[in-house]
Parts: sequence; structure tokens; C-alpha cells
Amino acid sequence: MLVEKRNAGREAVKHVEDGMVVGLGTGSTTKHAIDALAERIRKEKLDIVGIPTSECTEEEANDLNIPLGTLEEHEVIDLTIDGADEVDPNMNLIKGGGGALLREKLVAFNSKKVIIVVDSSKIVDRLGEKFELPVEIVPYWPNATMRMLEGLKCSTNMRMQHSSLFKTDNHNYIIDCRFEGIDEPGKLSSKINNIPTVVENGLFLNVADQIIIGKKNEVEEWVRG
Ligand code: A5P
Repeated sequence: MLVEKRNAGREAVKHVEDGMVVGLGTGSTTKHAIDALAERIRKEKLDIVGIPTSECTEEEANDLNIPLGTLEEHEVIDLTIDGADEVDPNMNLIKGGGGALLREKLVAFNSKKVIIVVDSSKIVDRLGEKFELPVEIVPYWPNATMRMLEGLKCSTNMRMQHSSLFKTDNHNYIIDCRFEGIDEPGKLSSKINNIPTVVENGLFLNVADQIIIGKKNEVEEWVRG
């Protein structure tokens, strides 16, 4: 899987052009893209500004001397490269395994083009088949939110880190919801986001313009028609 992630990440960086504002996703696959981007900036002297989607990505990019900015300074992002936990045949996604879903969604929604980089294990027939759907909530009385989410026919777990509740970069909690397959992701996303205390969920629908999948030593590309 490491080779697949590496190949997918590096392939995406071929789409970066001089002068672009580039959204930098979060996760191990995107890290390969960030490494490749740093290499291109150095060798080709590209003028690039990166917009990080997490504190972890910000640190990685700073270590590699990639110039960084914010969405406050750059209203439009030319291209975002990010990973995913699941990709379905309609190019819809579950994201948030790393807990960065809120900023990832904000950056993706403000991008002209979004390229998703994954290894072949992330491709599913139906979202929610393998991966739990992360839901970011304000850190207040989470049991009530868990009960309301369970009303949508899933089982829930508070995400933990070591023996404490996991906190996102936005100081919120994450509830991971197991659905055993999601039939109507659009409806589900609206229902989840209507629950008080929910900040955002990890369904990224009609967001990806291109998927780059590492498959053994090759890459396969899907482009939204
Ligand atoms: C971060 O919150 C996630 O959305 C990641 O992009 C996703 O979990 C993919 O991560 P990997 O590339 O590490 O599998």
C-alpha cells in the first residue's frame, strides 16, 4: 500500500503549475504529495502558496519550506490535493480518519479543482461499507449527540486518543458512526448536520473532480464527466 500511496500522491503533483495556490490535505497519502511538491518548488523554483488543512500538514509543509497562506488571504484555491478513507463509484468520499474533516471540507469547497489521492484499498461499492463516518461535534454533552446520531440507524463511538477523548485542531470531539453501508449519502449528510452540536460530517459529496488511485505499480485516474 505504501507504493500505491506514494505513486498516487506524486502523480497528483504533476497537475501543479507555477503561481498556483494549492490546498494541502491531511494524511499519509497527501504527505507523499507534499514531499513531491517541495521537490518541485526547489528544483523548478515554482512560486506556490500552500493552504494547509491541519496543524499536522502545516508542520510538514513548514519543515519542507513550502510557503503557506490562509483562506483569509487567498479566497480562491486553484487546486487541492487530499486523501480519503473511502471512494465510491460516483467519486463521493468519506474523509476524516485523521480528524481534519472540517478544514478539509472548507478548503475543498473553496477550490477550483480537487484531486483525491488514494491507494486501491479505499475503493468501495457503497460508502460506509468499511469505514466509520466521522462526525465533528462541539465538545459539550456528547452522549446526547450520540443518541441522536444512533437515531439515524448507526452505532457510535467517541473517538479516543490514548485514554482521553480525541480533540480536533478546532478543539472539538469526533463521533465515529458505523452504518454498514450508506444508501442515500446526500439525505444522511443533511440529517446529520441538522443535529444540534454537529459541526460537520465526513461525507464529501460531489466535491472530487479527479481521483488518482495507486494500483500496484500503476496509477488509475477517474475524472468527473
Ligand atoms: C484526514 O482527516 C483524512 O480525511 C485523510 O485524508 C484520510 O484519512 C486519508 O488518510 P491516509 O491517506 O493516511 O489514508
